Amino acid sequence: MDERKGFGTNFGFLMAAVGSAVGLGNIWGFPYKMGANGGFAYLAAYLVLAAVCGFVVLLAELALGRKTGAGAVKAYRLVSKKLKWVGWLGVASAFLILSFYCALGGYCLKYLVLNLGNVLHSGFGTNGMSGGEVFNAFVGNMGESTLYGMIFVAITMLIVMGGISDGIERVCSVGMPVLFILLVISIIRAVTLPGAVDGLKYMFIPGWAVANGVIEEAPSIFSVISAAGGQMFFSLSIGMAIMITYGSYLDKKENLEKNALVIVVMDTLIAILAGLCVIPARFALDPDGPLGGPGLLFITMQNVFDRMGPIGPIFGLLFYLLVIFAAISSSISLLEAVVVHFVDDARDRGLGDKRKKYTLIIAVLVAALCVLVCVDGLGSNHIAPADLLHLTVKGWNDCWLDFFDMLSEGVMMPLGGLLLVLMLGFETGTDLIRDECEATPDHRMRIYTFFKICVRVLTPIVMLIVLYGQIRAFFW
Ligand code: PHE
Repeated sequence: MDERKGFGTNFGFLMAAVGSAVGLGNIWGFPYKMGANGGFAYLAAYLVLAAVCGFVVLLAELALGRKTGAGAVKAYRLVSKKLKWVGWLGVASAFLILSFYCALGGYCLKYLVLNLGNVLHSGFGTNGMSGGEVFNAFVGNMGESTLYGMIFVAITMLIVMGGISDGIERVCSVGMPVLFILLVISIIRAVTLPGAVDGLKYMFIPGWAVANGVIEEAPSIFSVISAAGGQMFFSLSIGMAIMITYGSYLDKKENLEKNALVIVVMDTLIAILAGLCVIPARFALDPDGPLGGPGLLFITMQNVFDRMGPIGPIFGLLFYLLVIFAAISSSISLLEAVVVHFVDDARDRGLGDKRKKYTLIIAVLVAALCVLVCVDGLGSNHIAPADLLHLTVKGWNDCWLDFFDMLSEGVMMPLGGLLLVLMLGFETGTDLIRDECEATPDHRMRIYTFFKICVRVLTPIVMLIVLYGQIRAFFW
């Protein structure tokens, strides 16, 4: 009988889980949202939400996974009568996110190559074109962006085929510390650029962005909370199958609360650090460039490196390498969350270890959707849902990436998180989480009262606000 092998060490688990949490969202979402929504005030709101909602859902998911020793589909099936199907909701969100995450990962690979071209002064660099021109030419080139997307899917697939300890853990145990070092180097360069201080003011000082015309009007308190909640949810990779899956591979001797806390703290810290790198650089060298989203990563940052002098391409190389590590450690967690169900199911039926086969099948399906996202080129090639159905453009339908994002991040993820806390609060009770936390020898769950209050009262309320805010952000 094939054994179900988990993480070799707690450090390996942490690097994989932090790796899943740290992704493109930390780099292009958090920093600009922080500046646009009141700097320190946003950070304070974010931290409160992360404590009463992010930490609580994350801990519950890790415990649920470890208790059942299974991926999300089987885990929900084992503990709930009414919400058996919620595991599938998580798997479906992971699948959809993966399709566009791989397309974006492919873009990062392309930018690594571009900057390598610049370092070598060779023809495959940016050839004197501006960041905007390079980006438009690339997304408009269906063949090239598809090629890079497929390479990214293949890398993700190969790592997941290696399994937990020999694939995911090994890559993240090296990749995450390297990412951290690259980030520190990039921050030192960014904050010492002349004019960088405006970036720091934008990010941290409440009201600076409005007073200086960077954004038009001050957001309402509701939009601050819902922006912070939505960001927190996506950033921690919760409300979907991932943390249940990773929890299922964790040894009983490891402390779940401590691990959940470290993941939340590290994810937030890296989001702030990423901000200290990209935002000051943007204010110093490309003050009119986009402050967030793909525009920040692929237009503004490329302009920054082009304007940094002879050393620029080297920083470009380091920066896009960092982003690739962030993206790959997230994409492998997404693929694993889907694959685990089929692999475990085959093992339960006595068919042996079918990891390679199922990883290949699912990667091919992901690749098919990813091709659509790549060919669409963020809506620039006129095959978006809005074009095909002759709809007015509303933000969720102007490109396939936004459409899949709306379904997953907008609806399915927050719904999954809400249903999880409702299940714990009103169907199964919270004792199963406490028992699992206390399955660690000599450990008492001292925060149990806090956890219970959150699950029954605070977290569902926050989750409702997040869900409403996300739907509003996509459709209004
Ligand atoms: N947490 C990742 C980020 O911040 C994205 C992600 C979301 C990864 C959901 C996996 C699952 O970019």
